[in-house]
This record gives sequence, structure tokens and C-alpha cells, in this order.
Amino acid sequence: MKQLVTNATLLTFAGPDEPRAGAAASNVGLIRQGAVLMDEGVIVAAGPADKVLAHPDSRKGRVHDAGGRVVMPGFVDAHTHPAFAEPRLRDFELRAQGKTYQEIAAAGGGIISSVSALRGTTERDLTVLLQERAARFIECGTTTIEAKSGYGLDKDSELKSLRALKHLGAGGMLGVVPTFLGPHAVPPEYQGRTGEYARFMAREVLPVVAEEKLALYADVFCERGYFGAAECTDFLQAARAAGLGLRVHAEQLTHSGGAKLAARLKACTADHLDHADDDDLGALKAAGTVACLVPGSNHFLGLGSMPPARRILDAGVPVALATDFNPGTCPCWNMQEILAIAVTRMKMSPEEALVSATVNGAWAAGLGKTHGVLAVGQAADLVIYDCEDYRELCYWFGKNLAVTVFKAGKVVHSTAELRV
Ligand code: NIG
Ligand code: FE
Repeated sequence: MKQLVTNATLLTFAGPDEPRAGAAASNVGLIRQGAVLMDEGVIVAAGPADKVLAHPDSRKGRVHDAGGRVVMPGFVDAHTHPAFAEPRLRDFELRAQGKTYQEIAAAGGGIISSVSALRGTTERDLTVLLQERAARFIECGTTTIEAKSGYGLDKDSELKSLRALKHLGAGGMLGVVPTFLGPHAVPPEYQGRTGEYARFMAREVLPVVAEEKLALYADVFCERGYFGAAECTDFLQAARAAGLGLRVHAEQLTHSGGAKLAARLKACTADHLDHADDDDLGALKAAGTVACLVPGSNHFLGLGSMPPARRILDAGVPVALATDFNPGTCPCWNMQEILAIAVTRMKMSPEEALVSATVNGAWAAGLGKTHGVLAVGQAADLVIYDCEDYRELCYWFGKNLAVTVFKAGKVVHSTAELRV
């Protein structure tokens, strides 16, 4: 069915066909009296309303008068860990008592404490949980997520997580870019045998992931106490040979070599980067790797510091913003909240934050050619927000401003008919 959104304050993010860096990193492509026409899942016209309304099909579909509200591409959240069974409320309480993430993990909390509940959840129940979580992402304006496994940490449970993510994506409500994160932590049965565990993931699990096309990417937690650069390299090289793209959790808690590794392997993203130095940033820029920043985890961990977004932008590295949705460090699915944190705590401009959450998010999810921009031929994934100035999206923190969400040209969420 054709759908026309008109009378919009339109952010198109039109621009070069590459992740945005430098001056392009703050160009939102604002059109004050804009419109978008969608048909069969893609955009058939977008731009000034008078031009779009001249399209022969513009009167044939359902009309959504945005009443001057902001209309822009759906968020592409390029770093999430939604395949978990239970919240981690004990970790949360312990942090309130002053314990750090590392201390809690060493005392039996952390990633490992999410494993037994996930192992005990059926593929069907996990799929239902994912569908419920997907609805929360969608109602906040996210139309695509990159989604990792990584709480199963054995063959069956990692495959189960990826199969549940596949069912979620097949539903078509929320785009899902699945990532195999076998080396997320060393499970108890491999305690003290980190290399052996990483090799098991590469030799026994990865071939099934590739054979069943369960993931588009592979990821590793390159971190002191988790996986070292050498173990990560072996796993990622095997993943590349199996046809997967690469991502790296890099320099989150300590400077561990993940950024250089990501650059050397020309990974799609290096994520977190809290402890990245200027050398790392130079390497990422040269490699064309996107810096995927997840400041919601710093916020939720109560850290005083934030990922060095300004330094990364100044180095000319393209930045994507993502939630890092997970039960340990960021139980937040709302990208609008991440925008607010990015502007207030990382000193990004609202424009930089919006570019990072849409078009650069799409590049960080491997979808830069088809998503994240409102232009002819692009996916008809867009959102009407209840504000007329796009800076408000970063400003009313805690409030969800999304009123109508289109995924592939269909309304997948609507709060009510719009007042005009
Ligand atoms: O991105 N860094 C590793 N993974 C997650 C944390 C996951 C967890 O604590 O459950 C992150 O912050
Ligand atoms: Fe993460």
C-alpha cells in the first residue's frame, strides 16, 4: 500500500554514499516543508512537499499529515545484546553499593551470571521474549537492530540464541542484523582454558552458524580477563574465512588492543573505545572502521567518564551511536535516551548525534547502502516524532516522542491519529 507523509520537518540525511565523518558528520539534510512517498517497502519520492506531491502516485495512498512534526529515518541501533533471559538486578544493587563492573564479575556476577537462565530457556520462549523487547525498540523509533548472541556460551545455546534472533527478524516488524558473539566470556566449564574455548567456538560452532546462515557478523569481547588480542584474532580470522563480517568490543574497560585489531582486520565496527588512544584512532580512520559508541553503558555503570566522542570525531573517524541494550551494562532500548546522553555527556552536537544514530548506524550495521537515509530507492523505514525542532529529540530525556513508526512502508507502531 502506498503511504504519503506530508507537512513534515524532514531530516533526510542525504549525502555521500559512505559513513559520515568530518563536515558531513553534522549534516541532517533538513527540509522544512517536506514529504515522503512510500510504496512496496521503499521510498519512491522524498524532498520538498510540492515536488513530492507532483509525483503521479502521491494521491493514491494513505496520507499522514505530520502537522509540521519531525520526520526522519528510523534509528539503526548497531550494537545490542537482546538475547538474554533475565535482568541482572543483583549486579545493579551491588553497583549502588559501590562495587565496580569488574568486581561484580569477579564475585560471580557479570556476563557469566546470565548464562544459566539463558541455557534453561527454550528457543520458543526466547523468541517470545525477543518479540516483546522488539516492540519496545520499535515504539521508541528504532527500525533495525544489530543483535548479538553471547549469553549461551555453549554450542546449543549460542545456536539457539541466533535461531531465536532469526525468528525475530523473519517477523518483519524490526530489522535484525544477527551477530555471533561466542567469545563474550569464558563459561565455567572452560575456566582457565580461554584459548581452548575460543578455538571450540571457531571450530565447532562457527561452521554451523555459517552453514545455517545464522549470523552476518562475528564479534569478540577483547578485554583483560575476557579474550586477548591473539585469541580474538584467531576467532575473527576464522569468522572472516566463513564469510562473516567482523566487529570488536574494543578498549571498553582497559586498553587491550581491540581497536588496532579491528583496524588490522578491517572490521566493520570497533565498539566502546573508552580507552582508545590517538594511534588507535588513526588506525581506525585508515581502515574505514566505524567507531560505534555506547554511552548508555557508561551512564548505567555510573562511570565518571564517557567514550571520547569529540576526540574520535576530530580524528575524522565516523561515529555511530547505539544502545548496547543488555542486562548488565545498559538495559535501555530507547535511542532517544542515548541521544540525550551523547549531547550532554559526550558533547556531541544534536546534529552529530542524529547522524550517528541513523545513517552512520546503518553503515555500522552493514546496511549503509539501503537504510538510514530518506531518498528514492531506500528502505521506507521512518518515524514521525511529536516535536517540530529536531534538537528536541535529544532534549526531552526520558520521554518517548515517537508517534508513528513505519517499517518497510508499513505502520508498525502508532500512538494515535495525529492532531494537526
Ligand atoms: O557491551 N562488553 C561486553 N558486553 C556488554 C556487557 C554485557 C553484560 O554485562 O551482560 C557490553 O557492555
Ligand atoms: Fe556490547
